[in-house]
Amino acid sequence: MSKEAKFISIEGGEGAGKSTAIKTIQSYLNHRGIAHIVTREPGGTPLAEKIRSLLLDKSDETLLPETELLLFFAGRYQHVEHVIKPALEKGLWVISDRFVDASFAYQGAGRGIAESRIEYLKEWLIKDLSPQHTLLLDAPPALGLDRIKARGELDRIEGEKIDFFNRVRAYYLEKAAKEKARFHIIDTSASLADVEENTRLWLEDICGDYTR
Ligand SMILES: Nc1ncnc2c1ncn2[C@@H]1O[C@H](COP(=O)(O)OP(=O)(O)OP(=O)(O)O)[C@@H](O)[C@H]1O
Ligand SMILES: [Mg+2]
Repeated sequence: MSKEAKFISIEGGEGAGKSTAIKTIQSYLNHRGIAHIVTREPGGTPLAEKIRSLLLDKSDETLLPETELLLFFAGRYQHVEHVIKPALEKGLWVISDRFVDASFAYQGAGRGIAESRIEYLKEWLIKDLSPQHTLLLDAPPALGLDRIKARGELDRIEGEKIDFFNRVRAYYLEKAAKEKARFHIIDTSASLADVEENTRLWLEDICGDYTR
């Protein structure tokens, strides 16, 4: 039996099915009576949501990769200090739609910023706060993009070229292979019903005999 609140991050490419999986997770946790919050990156606090707009809205001025990285970490720091840590301290589970892995995948593998620079920001600001579990939703980028195109206009990052998303995907898969204990991969090119079933099986595994 365990009483420690868990921190879970959800990762994956554009339209990989993160929001869909989070709905399954929420309904499972509610059913189990596990108190939790669902939050997201970039964003999660009023100020970090403003930073999200700077990151995702299209603009005539090029957002340089380094600026992008720093904005992500600026928003993330607000999110960690004002939302994630206080929730965990209160005993609430935290489900975050993306976390630090996304910076290594997007600004590192995607944009080409050296991993050591991202590692430095992580060590400085995030320290040893790490999700106990990370659900990686994996699908070919073209499939995810097709799925979100049906939703409307693409944002600044969604508008990148396919090679960018292939590098992001490859990074996530490599990281998951290196950190097998933390990561669980679900193939979201499968049907919605299969993805939901696999998400529930994973949740049963990680929630185990957790009691409040
Ligand atoms: N396994 C699936 N089969 C078919 N359609 C799916 C599947 N998973 C998700 N979708 C659909 O694909 C679209 C994108 O899914 P979703 O919003 O969950 O992805 P996301 O990873 O949260 O996207 P974003 O990167 O934009 O936040 C939605 O319309 C969703 O209903
Ligand atoms: Mg989403």
